[in-house]
Amino acid sequence: MDPDRLIFAGSGDPEFAYRVAESLGDKLGRMSVSRFPDGEVSVKVEVNVRGRDCFVIQPTCPPVNENLLELMIIMDALRRSSVYRVTAVIPYYAYARQDRKDQPRVPITAKLVANLLARAGADRVLTMDLHAGQVQGFFDIPVDNLTAAPIFAKTVMALSLDGLVVASPDVGGVKKARSFARRLERLREEKGEVGRVDFAVVDKHRKSPDEVAALSIIGDVEGKHVVMIDDIVSTGGSLVEGAALLREQGAVDVVAVVTHPILAGDAAAKIEASSLEGLFVTDTIPLHEDVGGKIEVCSVAALFGAAIDAIYRNRSISKLFDGS
Ligand code: R5P
Repeated sequence: MDPDRLIFAGSGDPEFAYRVAESLGDKLGRMSVSRFPDGEVSVKVEVNVRGRDCFVIQPTCPPVNENLLELMIIMDALRRSSVYRVTAVIPYYAYARQDRKDQPRVPITAKLVANLLARAGADRVLTMDLHAGQVQGFFDIPVDNLTAAPIFAKTVMALSLDGLVVASPDVGGVKKARSFARRLERLREEKGEVGRVDFAVVDKHRKSPDEVAALSIIGDVEGKHVVMIDDIVSTGGSLVEGAALLREQGAVDVVAVVTHPILAGDAAAKIEASSLEGLFVTDTIPLHEDVGGKIEVCSVAALFGAAIDAIYRNRSISKLFDGS
């Protein structure tokens, strides 16, 4: 007999966890998570979990370190309660951008976090659009890296734009942009439409963690509708600068699809004031209540639900991101 499945929510985004559980017809496992007066995390699992297949949903969004430590403490509690297996479901995996030693005397924090998660008791990790796919290699446990690309592709197709160009906001995102352009082409062919979806690249220079300059565009965007694709929008600088340059180079309009809306500081206001027509994001990170206007959320909760179900039943989950 398969062990029963139980889904738990950390305090990073309990509403998202609720939506995931609801998509499966499951109820969230009862657990209390609070803080001691000095700020230490206190966790108590309120149901019997012995022999259960447990999934802990916790995005490591701001407050990043609080959410990360809380996830580790929850997994420790489960592990010590004799569960069958723990899957850390991390819709947004923080620290993934610190994935290499690109200057002397800096850490590789993405690797450190991978070690900490496994040490805290994770048997598997389920996440989405890791900043770099190779971060999976930092783990010695299985990692399933979902992608929001199929959901974004449907969103873009619904805009019915002719003369589409997919643009990467930096050189590092070329593969992602090219793959998204191919996905859109396939969808257009399925609908009996013809027309290549080209791709372009913004040559971006990061002056500091919160300041970027878009230097030039590689590719032709004159008279085209441009869709920028990225994994993270943090300060918004890459999108705002990129969109401005794309418009300068003759793009008719520019929208963006970005998986993880960190939207730090005044990023949302910057986006509203920018030449971007719209920004589609997912719910891997909860948005502030006042965010709206140009920013629209495409939920990936059901996709996470389907992946959890596939893991639980030992079924393939590659069909969930086929062709990515
Ligand atoms: C960087 O390589 C990432 O893919 C994003 O482009 C970057 O994190 C976006 O940051 P910001 O919104 O601060 O420009």
